[in-house]
Amino acid sequence: MSGKALVTGGAGFIGSHLVDRLIDDDWEVLAADDLSKGHLDRLADARRNGPVHFHQLDIGSDEFREAVRRFEPDVVHHLAAQSGVRPSVEDPMFDARVNILGTINVLQAAAEAEAQRVVFASSGGAMFGEVPGAPVTEDAPAFPDSPYGISKKIVEDYFRYFRHVAGLDYVILALGNVYGPRQDPHGEAGVVAIFSRLMLDGRRPVVNGDGEQARDYVYVDDIVDAFARAGEIGGGVRLNIGTGIPTTVNELYDLIADSAGYDGAPEFGPAKEGDLARSVIDAAAAKAHLGWEPWTELPTGIAKTVQAFREE
Ligand SMILES: NC(=O)c1ccc[n+]([C@@H]2O[C@H](COP(=O)([O-])OP(=O)(O)OC[C@H]3O[C@@H](n4cnc5c(N)ncnc54)[C@H](O)[C@@H]3O)[C@@H](O)[C@H]2O)c1
Repeated sequence: MSGKALVTGGAGFIGSHLVDRLIDDDWEVLAADDLSKGHLDRLADARRNGPVHFHQLDIGSDEFREAVRRFEPDVVHHLAAQSGVRPSVEDPMFDARVNILGTINVLQAAAEAEAQRVVFASSGGAMFGEVPGAPVTEDAPAFPDSPYGISKKIVEDYFRYFRHVAGLDYVILALGNVYGPRQDPHGEAGVVAIFSRLMLDGRRPVVNGDGEQARDYVYVDDIVDAFARAGEIGGGVRLNIGTGIPTTVNELYDLIADSAGYDGAPEFGPAKEGDLARSVIDAAAAKAHLGWEPWTELPTGIAKTVQAFREE
């Protein structure tokens, strides 16, 4: 299937890679982004390769809904968000306006435009919170410990509601820790981007705490493959998108240092308050439902990411 796809947050880190993939797959794409964090130059390749339209719009606005009605997308990939945990703690009202009210507006716009389905970027880590032991499956109870995680959790009921009343199909993808080229190296999160930039500049990164906190790092190409598949298949489900493999910040540091040719030892700083000790998710359901599997081994993905930052 291909047709018309709307990508909210299309000028963001993951969204711009998704636009590239959809153009490769012969979709006509409308990217909508308010450019609060996005950059138009991330869409330069896609624009050379196929039909990409761009609208600078707030997903919470009437203008956004009007633009969606005019475009008449078949599939909506909803990635626009206030995407940070710390900003959500500092300003929960703003987080809720973008991530909850904005998402309701996206769903309403998709329903009005009679789109077939919406694929939503949720968060495995922020939604489940701290879960020791084996990788977390979708049926684990979700106890988010930040307004960001709460907003990702509570909009799920709206997805179910719109499916029920408007026949709007959906897939919610609960993502692990995404890394890859174009990630913001100056953000509050995105340790691969931050360390890569610093090491390539010959500067020593600071590791928060003892560096033994473990995460599930997924390469951005694998993530957009999950969106592409979900956009075709649907099904009204939430699926984890991760590798199931825990990697500590110390292990990551060594891999990035290897690729960047950096030989300095890390500096250890104070632990970040509320930092989870472990967040790893089980993606067996995504394999069964979407035929999705992560293809990119961490050393390969890190090498590609460092190379992209080197070329910037
Ligand atoms: N990066 C990760 O590791 C990760 C993990 C889990 C979930 N996610 C989710 O994936 C999605 C994309 O994340 P990302 O890492 O690419 O972040 P990002 O900040 O690069 O992308 C979000 C985009 O949304 C845009 N945006 C913000 N508010 C908007 C608004 N009101 N209207 C229109 N556009 C708006 C920003 O300008 C930005 O381009 C987000 O929903 C995020 O919560 C990301």
